[in-house]
Amino acid sequence: MDTSTKYLGLQLKSPIIAGSCGLTANIDNLVKLEEAGAGAVILKSVFEEQIIYDIKRNTTVMAPTDNYGVSYEYIAQHVADDSMAKYFSLIREAKKRLTIPVIGSINCYSYENWLTYATKFVEAGCDALELNMAILAYEPSTSADDIERTFNNIINTLRKAVSIPISIKVSPYFTDMAKSMQQLSWMGIQGMTMFNKSMQIDIDTDTMTLKNAPKLSNPDEIYNTMRWVVILSKIIRCDISASTGVYTADDVVKMLLAGAGTVQVVSCLYKNGLEYMRTLNDGLREWMAAKGYENINQFRGKMAVRPSEKASIWMRTQFMKYFAEIE
Ligand SMILES: Cc1cc2nc3c(=O)[nH]c(=O)nc-3n(C[C@H](O)[C@H](O)[C@H](O)COP(=O)(O)O)c2cc1C
Repeated sequence: MDTSTKYLGLQLKSPIIAGSCGLTANIDNLVKLEEAGAGAVILKSVFEEQIIYDIKRNTTVMAPTDNYGVSYEYIAQHVADDSMAKYFSLIREAKKRLTIPVIGSINCYSYENWLTYATKFVEAGCDALELNMAILAYEPSTSADDIERTFNNIINTLRKAVSIPISIKVSPYFTDMAKSMQQLSWMGIQGMTMFNKSMQIDIDTDTMTLKNAPKLSNPDEIYNTMRWVVILSKIIRCDISASTGVYTADDVVKMLLAGAGTVQVVSCLYKNGLEYMRTLNDGLREWMAAKGYENINQFRGKMAVRPSEKASIWMRTQFMKYFAEIE
């Protein structure tokens, strides 16, 4: 049975990818993930502020602007001076020890000088770059057009700067999701990770300070991703990697049926350990055997909305069927 697939033009043995997180910041973990059958690994992200900090420390020629304020000061105070050097040596080490693709990751939110620095990721040897585009309209003065422009500027500049495949990781909050995702997929990127999990805020009522909300996803968070993969997979021109709420082999199968090219897992690895990657792969193979499929292309996208169908009518019909069953 063949679970291999292509993602971002790279050959993967499995469509199940270890998503970007703390677990992928460590070479021993990366080796274990490959041994357990991961199709690829996406390294923990570096923040664009981290890159700006490194540029400022090492050059006077290309001094970036000072738009970052407190977020930059946080990085300057809390991140080791050699954090970027360490990141590049992790990429080099991973490329030496792993045979599966190693994907670098940058968490970005603005169109700034950090973009030219992306060539260093290529020099270090990563096979592709995932841009975690943490861009939301937090300010009342920010319009959807502004957000779109930032996306376009970042993607266009990065595409000119690097020759390796680029994937963007997007948030589930877009007013015009289908239009935005389709247009972004036409910009020469190779992949789109749907979706990033936005950071949640919580408040400690005793100390009246902010605290982090739980970091791990709940299994039922899968449904929002699945809905959009079903709707968009046939009209998007790049690969879709489904992320958020994937916990079981059955979830992996569902995302492939929805039309995803690959599936990323994070929370389930935190909960069950890195070896759980093997359980997911075994489960995928068992399902394929039970259904008589020899390769993934035989069933990928079988449940997706077809381009000839109107997604709005399709969704409305599902909605009616759903509520018609409720007495
Ligand atoms: C502890 C932790 C650290 C994470 N760090 C990153 C990161 O550095 N970059 C990134 O793009 N996503 C990061 N994520 C988000 C995950 O890649 C993923 O998008 C999210 O957890 C949803 O997938 P899941 O439901 O499989 O956990 C992190 C998630 C967790 C739980």
